[in-house]
Order: sequence, then structure tokens, then C-alpha cells
Amino acid sequence: MNLPGVTVITHPLVQHNLTRLRDARTESQEFRRVLSEVAALMLYEATRAFETGPLAVTTPLERARGRRLRREVLLVPVLRAGLGMLDTILQLIPSARVGFIGLKREESTLEAHSYHKSLPPDLRRFEVILIDPMLATGGSAVAALNLLSERRAARVRLVCLVAAPEGIRRVQKSYPTVPIFTAAIDRQLNDKGYILPGLGDAGDRLFGV
Ligand code: PRP
Ligand code: URA
Repeated sequence: MNLPGVTVITHPLVQHNLTRLRDARTESQEFRRVLSEVAALMLYEATRAFETGPLAVTTPLERARGRRLRREVLLVPVLRAGLGMLDTILQLIPSARVGFIGLKREESTLEAHSYHKSLPPDLRRFEVILIDPMLATGGSAVAALNLLSERRAARVRLVCLVAAPEGIRRVQKSYPTVPIFTAAIDRQLNDKGYILPGLGDAGDRLFGV
């Protein structure tokens, strides 16, 4: 499925790892390792359009023209499950700063409730990468984007491993210019708001509870 504003990352390694994560037999220890690996692979695509500026350096032999990232990067994992994608991304962008947003989806209403926020006061200068493996109803993503927008974030990308069409629609209705990067657009939500076929509860599978 091709949707404007959504990049589905079809790289074979991403798809191979996604399938391992979907497999109910993959236990927490392995799930953590594979999610972390796939996050790094997804990051390449998600950062492809980052702006760079010129930078001249001196090699051991002569001057060389190079490039450097034009803006600081802020990674924002949504707790809990976003933590599972943070470490390897941080290894690839060690200079990044890290903010946190804690959200919990209420089981009966599927509303996302915010319980933690730790962000720089002004986000205008950052390339922000919002990280959450699951985009289901989109309530959590929109709540997170609202918090980023209160802090005047100007450039935000949403990286999620699995997205439901419902969640994509909801994010795009409120934030049409936020690019979404995902490894899969799944079929639909079930009546409890879980993605089908999905991979189950990402937080529980990561942390075992
Ligand atoms: C999961 C997931 C997303 C959210 C997606 O988190 O990690 O944040 O659900 O659902 P939505 O698109 O319908 O809002 P959950 O609220 O279960 O918290 P957890 O990560 O702490 O388990
Ligand atoms: N949150 C999850 O962890 N999985 C889903 O399928 C939906 C929301």
C-alpha cells in the first residue's frame, strides 16, 4: 500500500526482522535484540532527507570538502515501547539529545494518557525523531505530537515499526506534514485497538510484563 507522506521501508533486512518480531515464539530477550537492530536499519531511511551543510576538513594529505548535519537531532522515544528502539539509534547519532514522553493507552477508551514529559523547552532548532514501534489508533502519536508542537517543534519525523491505516489517517489529519516511516502498514485494528496482524503488545513483549 502506498500512501502519501508514508515511507514503507521494504529493505530485506527490515522485513526479515519484522517477521521475527511478529512471531509469537520470539521471546523478550530476542525481541529486544531484533527490535533494536531493526531500529538502526530504519533510521537510515528516516534521516535520508536531513539537511547538511558544507564542512572542510584536512585529511593527513590535503584539504577535503565534506558535509555535516545542519541541525541538532532530538530523539524522543514514547515510553515504554519506544525505549526498545532508542539504543541503536543513539549509537548511530551519538551527538543526539534524548527527550522522553510517557504515554499509556487506557484499555477501555483507548485514549492515551500522558504521565511523563522531559523535553528541551524550545524545539525549533532540532530535527526531532519521534520513536514508537506501534501506530495503532494514532491516539498516542497525536498526543506525543501535541506535546512536541507545544514546544514549537518545526521538523518532526515519526518512526514506527508497524502502522495501522486508522493510525496513519489520524496522524495525518492533525499533522499532515509529519513524515511517517514504517516497516509495514497492516490490515486493521481489532475491537480492542490492537493491530492485525501486528505483533501484539510491544511493551509487554519487550519487557516481559
Ligand atoms: C502502545 C504502543 C504505542 C501505543 C499505540 O503503548 O507502544 O505507544 O500503544 O497505540 P495507539 O496508536 O492506539 O495510541 P501502550 O499505551 O500500551 O504503553 P506501553 O508501551 O507502556 O505498553
Ligand atoms: N499497542 C501495541 O503495543 N500493539 C498494538 O497492536 C496496538 C497498540
